[in-house]
Amino acid sequence: MLEHDVVIVGGGLAGCRAALEIARLSPNLNLALVAKTHPIRSHSVAAQGGIAATLKNVDDQDSWEAHAFDTVKGSDYLADQDAVAILTQEAPDVVIDLEHLGVLFSRLENGRIAQRAFGGHSHHRTCYAADKTGHAILHELYTNIRRYGITIYDEWYVMQLILEENCAKGLVMYRLLDSTVQVLRAKAVMFATGGYGRVFNTTSNDFASTGDGLSMTALAGLPLEDMEFVQFHPTGLYPAGVLISEAVRGEGAYLVNSNGDRFMATYAPNKMELAPRDITSRAITTEIRQGRGIHADGSAGGSFVYLDLRHMGREKIMSRVPFCWEEAQRLAGVDAVIEPIPVRPTVHYSMGGIPVNTEGQVRRSADTFVESFFAAGECACVSVHGANRLGSNSLLECVVYGRRTGRAIATYVQDQSLPEVDEQHYLQSAHTQIQQLLAQSGEFRINAIRQRVQDCLSQHCGVFRTEAVIKEGINTLQNLKQQYEQIRLDDKDSVWNTEIIEALELRNLMVVGEVIMAAALQRQESRGAHSREDYPVRDDERFLQHTLAYFSPQGVTLQYMPVTLTQFEPQERKY
Ligand code: FUM
Repeated sequence: MLEHDVVIVGGGLAGCRAALEIARLSPNLNLALVAKTHPIRSHSVAAQGGIAATLKNVDDQDSWEAHAFDTVKGSDYLADQDAVAILTQEAPDVVIDLEHLGVLFSRLENGRIAQRAFGGHSHHRTCYAADKTGHAILHELYTNIRRYGITIYDEWYVMQLILEENCAKGLVMYRLLDSTVQVLRAKAVMFATGGYGRVFNTTSNDFASTGDGLSMTALAGLPLEDMEFVQFHPTGLYPAGVLISEAVRGEGAYLVNSNGDRFMATYAPNKMELAPRDITSRAITTEIRQGRGIHADGSAGGSFVYLDLRHMGREKIMSRVPFCWEEAQRLAGVDAVIEPIPVRPTVHYSMGGIPVNTEGQVRRSADTFVESFFAAGECACVSVHGANRLGSNSLLECVVYGRRTGRAIATYVQDQSLPEVDEQHYLQSAHTQIQQLLAQSGEFRINAIRQRVQDCLSQHCGVFRTEAVIKEGINTLQNLKQQYEQIRLDDKDSVWNTEIIEALELRNLMVVGEVIMAAALQRQESRGAHSREDYPVRDDERFLQHTLAYFSPQGVTLQYMPVTLTQFEPQERKY
């Protein structure tokens, strides 16, 4: 059996930042990081626009309180305000720390870190490295954790969280290279497993974003929080769905419909293209639904709108958002210097996740916690984003709460000993699961079922939702679950068998999809990214609460948990 003091699952920003903190504070701890891809291929590397922090390099009127207010208002008042205060107060310090680690931020003329405008923020506070900010940060974090000699199990897929007697004891993991299965026990387990964008058919997320950590947590009988809040990024490149950064609008680009109008004037006259994402995504979807979308030949009635950068000029486009220009060129054949980019909303981010407190400890219920289990980053819900996240607050969450969780773990493990784990029991059940997958001679292929699951979630739990449509989706998913029992794998080999992993991921997509739809059905109001056409108004009386969803094979049961309000009274949200 493998043994480590601490094991972190996930090699993205939150996992690497936590690992760095633990190694800095307690270099003698035997620390491991497990990731299903190589860490520098984690989805954090794709983050583009930036990381918010009130450095005041561009705007000396900015303050952490203003950042906190923007975040809470953006969240449609569902964020926990104590967690938001921590996020925004610690932001300048974590960004300076990243700079000291070697992150190459873009600069102002005076040499200070550059800061740009971003949706829903009242000041220019988003620090950036052109439009490759995640890449710049992740590479430095990874280089730094390598210096501490942390053991990295890359291309190992975690199959199960070992949770016994309310204590996380370790993991069961599968090695892609040769199908080895190992049990790893540890004094503390941290999940930093990222999001679930691949539950939907159009997403900015990479292929690995299949909600594995969320599903494993749910399958262990623990709750997931606020899973109905799925963020649609307004500007996914049409039709691929890959991200065209909000930084493009932060630098001045326009959203235009088939009439040539900057339609955001109708939906958010004060913020225009820099309204929060929930509002902008609804605006684009409404324009398309009402016939003011655009076809490939430029005529009206199509499925996208234009993101127009032309007035920005070549020099600005190439220096501030070169990667977005390249994506449009490479994937849509559009030269954004001379042509507008076709865009439509794409699934981008999970506001919900594994419920944690501000030290990253995982909750079992509103007021109880799980021993030795921690989480941070997109897979966690602390909750700083509530019902709608502001752009550039997610990289920030990863580093603020990655660092805090790392600190909490370093302290926690000091007086812990390694848990007892029945290795044979877990090995046997993992081998049985894999053998069954390989042996079954069903009639369904993974690809086909996955596509139907993704279509189901996109059609039944999209930007706009109704009870009837969600219920239909839940029924469809039940049928797909039955088909999953009859999947057939073509690859029976033990070397680099990606089909086994795809089969396990597909189960996870279905678990997460079921939780999202159950929580969305029960929330009979519209708040942030959850827009119910049959309940169009926010209902603070009934739903100023977090959802806690418990999955079981029989279905999902829901409880609610109070929101922490401190500085800001809920108000009507206008932009
Ligand atoms: O649009 C973007 O660059 C995305 C940023 C974010 O999700 O924070």
